[in-house]
Amino acid sequence: MKPTKSFLFLFSAVITLSSCNNKINSQSTAKNSLKNAYKGDFYIGTALDINQIEEKDPKVTNLISKQFNSITPENIMKSMFLQPEENKFDFDVSDKYVAFGQKHKMFIHGHTLVWHSQLAPWMSKIKDSTSMAKMLTNHITTVVKKYKGKIDSWDVVNEALNEDGTLRKSVFLNTYGKNFITHAFKTAAAIDSKVELYYNDYNLCNAKKRQGAVELVKNLQKNGAKIDGVGEQGHWHLETPTLEEIEKTILDFSALGVKVSFSELDISVLPSPYGLQGAEISQRFANNEKMNPYPKTLPDSMQVKLAQRYNDIFKLFLKHKDKISRVTFWGVNDTQSWLNDFPIKGRTDYPLLFDANLQPKKAYESIISLKVKK
Ligand code: G3I
Repeated sequence: MKPTKSFLFLFSAVITLSSCNNKINSQSTAKNSLKNAYKGDFYIGTALDINQIEEKDPKVTNLISKQFNSITPENIMKSMFLQPEENKFDFDVSDKYVAFGQKHKMFIHGHTLVWHSQLAPWMSKIKDSTSMAKMLTNHITTVVKKYKGKIDSWDVVNEALNEDGTLRKSVFLNTYGKNFITHAFKTAAAIDSKVELYYNDYNLCNAKKRQGAVELVKNLQKNGAKIDGVGEQGHWHLETPTLEEIEKTILDFSALGVKVSFSELDISVLPSPYGLQGAEISQRFANNEKMNPYPKTLPDSMQVKLAQRYNDIFKLFLKHKDKISRVTFWGVNDTQSWLNDFPIKGRTDYPLLFDANLQPKKAYESIISLKVKK
C-alpha cells in the first residue's frame, strides 16, 4: 500500500518533534551538569575532603555525583596519612575514597606519592641516599599496588621545582639527588603499567618554572621513565596568569608528547599580598580588613568578573581540548577552599563554582554557556 500525503506529513512531523525533544532533553541535561556539558572534551573533576569522602552530607554527595566525573583526594593520600610511621600503612579513608569513585563511576586520581609537604615526619628525618631509595620504593610500591586497576592516574611527584626552574632543596633532593624523580616514576610504572603518571606543580605558567618542568619531563623521557602528563595546578587570580601564558603552557607540554591537566583549579578574588602567586604553603601574612574585603558576600560586580575570567579560561581549554585530559576544581564549593586560610588565615574567598549554600554561581553559568546555547 502506498502511503498517503497526509500520512507522510504526520510521520515527518512526529520525527521532527521527537528529534527536537531529544535535543531539548540532552541540552537541558547538559545545562544541569558540568560533566555532561563537557562530555567528550575532558574530565571535570573536584577535590574531596574527608567529610565528602565519608558522605556526611547527602546534599553535597548529590552535587558531587551530578556535576563531576573525576575526583582527587585533597589531603588524605598524602604520605603523613598513608604511612604515618615506617611500614605502618593506613588505608582506611583512602579505601573509602576509591569506593566513592567506583560507586559513582568516576575517573579516580591519586594525589600524591612524593611531596615534601604533608610528609610523614619520619620520612623527613631520612639522612642518606640508600635509606631514601628504600623508603621511596617501599612507599610507592605499596600504595600503587594496593590501588592497581582502581586508581586511574597518579601525581607521582608534586612540586619539585623552585620558581626559577631549578630543583627544590627537599629532603628527597638532599639525600638521593636529582634522580629521585626518575626513581619514583620508574617504581610506579613497574607496579602498574596501565596507570597514568603525572608530574604536578603550580605556577607553570611562569616562563622560568615552566622551562624547568619541560626539562624535568625531557629528563624522565631520556632516562626511559614513563610519564603520561603534566598537571598545572591552576591556583590563579582574576588578572594573572594571562591567557597567553596559560596557552603557552598547554602548547609547551603537549609538544613533549604528554597530556596536560589543570589539576587544582581555583581563582582567588581577594587581594594578594605583594602580588603573591601560586601555592607555596610556607608563605603566610597577617589578616586585616583591606585584605578581607568581602567577609559576608561577594558583590555582583565581582561575581561578574569571576564569571568572565572562568569563561575566558574555559574558551581556551576548549580550543585545546585535544591536549587536555582533565580539569579539576580544588574543592566543591567556596567554604571548602584552602584559600580561606592561605596566604592569610581566616579570610573569605570565592574561588569556585558553587557558593556556601551549594548554589551555582555566575561563574558556573559562564562555563556551561560555552557548551549549551540558550
Ligand atoms: O587536620 C587538621 C585539623 O585536625 C586541625 O584542627 C586543623 C587546624 O587548622 O588543621 C587541619 O589540618 C589542615 C589540613 O589542610 C586539613 O584540613 C592543615 O592545617 C592545612 O595546612 C592543610 O592544608 C592543605 C594544604 O594542601 C597543605 O599543604 C589544604 O587543605 C589542601 O587543599 C592543600 O592542597 C595543596 C595540594 O595538595 C598541592 N598543591 C597546592 C594545594 C594548595 O595548597
